[in-house]
Amino acid sequence: MNNSYDPDTLAVRAGIHRSQFNEHSEALYLTSSFVFENAAQAAARFANQEPGNIYSRFTNPTVSAFQERLAALEGGEACVATASGMAAILATCMGLLKSGDHIVSSSGIFGATVQLFTTVLAKFGLETTFVDGGDPDAWRRALRPNTRLMFLETPSNPLTEVVDIAALAGVARAAGALLVVDNCLCTPALQKPLPLGADLVIHSATKYLDGQGRVLGGAVVGRRELVMDGIFGFLRTAGPSLSPFNAWVLLKGLETLRIRMEAQSHAAAAIARWLESRPQVERVYYPGLASHPQHALAMRQQRAGGAIVSFEVKGGRAAAWRVIDATRLISITANLGDTKSTITHPATTTHGRITAEARARAGIGEGLLRVAVGLESIDDLKSDLARGLEG
Ligand SMILES: Cc1ncc(COP(=O)(O)O)c(C=O)c1O
Repeated sequence: MNNSYDPDTLAVRAGIHRSQFNEHSEALYLTSSFVFENAAQAAARFANQEPGNIYSRFTNPTVSAFQERLAALEGGEACVATASGMAAILATCMGLLKSGDHIVSSSGIFGATVQLFTTVLAKFGLETTFVDGGDPDAWRRALRPNTRLMFLETPSNPLTEVVDIAALAGVARAAGALLVVDNCLCTPALQKPLPLGADLVIHSATKYLDGQGRVLGGAVVGRRELVMDGIFGFLRTAGPSLSPFNAWVLLKGLETLRIRMEAQSHAAAAIARWLESRPQVERVYYPGLASHPQHALAMRQQRAGGAIVSFEVKGGRAAAWRVIDATRLISITANLGDTKSTITHPATTTHGRITAEARARAGIGEGLLRVAVGLESIDDLKSDLARGLEG
């Protein structure tokens, strides 16, 4: 499809290649492999001399449709879909780096990504230095001659730290490193890192791209040579691939992405403002609030504040757990990006496996709560949180 269409059009129509049955909705190709006309065609497909599907670990039309649609929305040349967001980060590192290479990462990233860098990748000779994502000089100081990759999330999970993508793209370019941005919290509906200079965008499609808490998935989007030569090659061989069924669910999720992101951002902003006025709340982290340290940058870089609101309650872990346990509506679950609002205590769940030192470095306190705001009534959500705050 012509990618000059408006993103609203691309979100519902990009990636459609109708079969001989001319179905209107996207077809679900639930098959492990594809049949060849003859031995010569099989050989030509395996040798990459003829385009076409072979085996669903690395070629499936439903997965391709999702890849095409997401690439169009992010403004990238190519996309490779993976089994989960973590598989997307792993495939990026395994596909593009080698033993002895160095990564510089923002310290404000998802706990499992910290674990991946410091335990799994470290075993294979990849070293990671963590820096304060908001300080471009800290990134520059951490660079080494063997730095190949700079990694960040913006806004970060759970503290909604906003990093200047364009500024860091300049740092990465000067250092000959790749800038990789996890765009999970904003999605292309609110922020497009590639036109700002990032080399690759990572997604946990499990979150807002699905948007309804149904399937796991991930993706990497960027220039064709990075995505297809490096990352796709790893995926084809190692196999952390997206299932066609999940790709079909995600295709449908993309169709409503913008309207969900706008509605959920609007609700999150209202809840953030309300929390800021509560005497039991020490601090609210939300990029859309004027009190957010990078509010101006967030409003330049993002179309809205996003749907994640984190806040520190007075009274530490006991007070935070009281708020969680008093909820009757908001789900106590680690996922985010759902139409159903969720609440979690990062220090003992999503960030529980990293060391106390790494948690402190990332600013994850014992009184911190993260609410991923869904599509319920704003008043009902406020009442649900007020019960534990005021009780
Ligand atoms: C910002 C961010 N990146 C990556 C991931 C990992 O994604 P997945 O759970 O799909 O592997 C998560 C999961 O919560 C996340 O929040």
